[in-house]
Amino acid sequence: MNIPVATVGAATADALDGLERLQGPVTVVRRCTELTELIAVSQSGTVRAAVVADEAGDLTAALAERLAAAGVALVALADDPVLRQRLDALRIVNAPGGVHPGVLAEMISAAVQALEEPLDGPRTAAGNSFADPAASFGSGAADPGPEEAAEPDGRRGTVTAVWGPAGAPGRTTLAVNLAAEAAAAGAEVLLIDADTYGASVAVSLGLLDESAGLAQACRLADQGLLDDAALRRLSTGVSLRGRRLSVLTGVIRSDRWVELRPAALSGVLTAARRSADLTVVDCGFSLETDEELSFDTMAPRRNASTLLLLEAADTVYAVGTADSVGVPRLVRALSDLAEAVPGLEPRVVLNKVRASSVGRQPESQLRGVWERFGPGGGITAFLPADYAAADASLLSGTALLETAPGSPLRAAIAELAGVQTPRRRRGAPRIGAK
Ligand SMILES: Nc1ncnc2c1ncn2[C@@H]1O[C@H](COP(=O)(O)OP(=O)(O)OP(=O)(O)O)[C@@H](O)[C@H]1O
Ligand SMILES: [Mg+2]
Repeated sequence: MNIPVATVGAATADALDGLERLQGPVTVVRRCTELTELIAVSQSGTVRAAVVADEAGDLTAALAERLAAAGVALVALADDPVLRQRLDALRIVNAPGGVHPGVLAEMISAAVQALEEPLDGPRTAAGNSFADPAASFGSGAADPGPEEAAEPDGRRGTVTAVWGPAGAPGRTTLAVNLAAEAAAAGAEVLLIDADTYGASVAVSLGLLDESAGLAQACRLADQGLLDDAALRRLSTGVSLRGRRLSVLTGVIRSDRWVELRPAALSGVLTAARRSADLTVVDCGFSLETDEELSFDTMAPRRNASTLLLLEAADTVYAVGTADSVGVPRLVRALSDLAEAVPGLEPRVVLNKVRASSVGRQPESQLRGVWERFGPGGGITAFLPADYAAADASLLSGTALLETAPGSPLRAAIAELAGVQTPRRRRGAPRIGAK
C-alpha cells in the first residue's frame, strides 16, 4: 500500500527531505506552503496523510478534525517541548523535526491505519446509577476503559448527558438539579450548558453571566491549552449548602453555536473528566444531520456537537413531557437517536407527570402506553408535575434543594441522583425511579 502524503514546511526540514527520497510506503505527492493549502488539498481526496512541520504551532483540534473528516491522517513535526506537549493534548501524533525518515514513514502508516480503524469510544451505554453517591463518584464510578486508564493522574469522572426533544420537556431542570444534588452530597460536579439553541442554565442558577464559559473553554481546548486551572477559572462557582457546584455557562446568542465544535467539546469533556467526579451536560434537542443542506461537507454542523456529547456520555437521560404531545414526540426522537447513535441506551425520564393530562394513576397509564408504542428499555423515572416548586426555583434562581427542599419534584430528582432526602419516608407514594 502506498500512502500519498502532503507536507507543509520548507525543504530544510531533514525529515521531509528524507521522506521525499524514501522508496518506501509513503510518497510525497504535494508540498504545501501553508495550512490553508493543505486543507484544500485534503478536500480534493488526493492524499491520505499530512505531515506538518513549519506551521505545527498553528494546528488546532478543529483543524485536525477537518482533516480526519476528509480521511487524512495527521503527523506534526516540532522540536519545542511545550508545543509537543500541546500537540499531545490535542492527540495529534508528533515527532521531533530530526526524526529518521523511516520512522516517520512508519508513524504515517500507523496514523493512517488508526484513522481507518477508530477505536470504540469510552461510552458504556447502560448508564450508571448514583445509588450510593459516596461510592459512585470519583475514580470508582465507572469501569475505566483503556482511554481513561491512560489519564496521567489516574482520576476519571463520569459524564451524564441530559437530552430530550423540542417542547421544553424539562432538560435544564433535570440537568441543574441532578448536578446540584450530587454537588450538595459532596461530589465535585461540573455542570455544562451545551444547549446550542437556548442556553438557560445560568439564569436557572441566578448567574448574571454573559461570559459563555463553555465557549471560552472550547477555544482553549481547540488549542490544546485547557488544563485544570483554566477549566476552574472559566467555570462559575455556585455555592450549595457549603459545597461548590462548578458551571460552564452556555452561549446565549444561538448564532454562536459554531464556537462549540465537536473536537473542542471533546477536549472540554476530557478536561472535565479529569477534574470533576461528575459532569452533567444540558444538551440541545435537535439531532438531524444537515450535511444534505450544506454545499461544503467540511462545514461545521450544528447538531454534530449534540451527537458527540451523547456518544461520549456514560449516561444519557432522555426527557419527555408526560402528555399526548410529549410522549409521541419523545418516542420519535428516540428512534432518531437510535439511528444517529447506534447502541446507545438512554434512560427515559417522563416529566411533568400529572393525572390531569393522562388520567388517574398516571404512572401505570404511561407505562401501558410505553409498552405499546415506546422502544424497549422501559421508563427509568417519573417526575411529578410540581409547578409550585419549579416556578419558585426559577423565580429565585436556585436549585430545588434550596428553594423547595421538601417538594415532590426535588424528592424525585434526588432519588434519580441516588441521594437520600430527609423528607422521604417508607411507604410514601413512589414518584421517582422505578
Ligand atoms: N416537573 C415539573 N413540574 C412543573 N414545571 C416544570 C417541571 N419541570 C420543568 N418545569 C418547568 O417547565 C419549563 C421548561 O423547563 P426546562 O427549562 O427545564 O425545559 P427544557 O427542556 O430545558 O426547555 P428548553 O427547550 O427551553 O431548553 C420551566 O418553566 C420549568 O420550570
Ligand atoms: Mg433547556
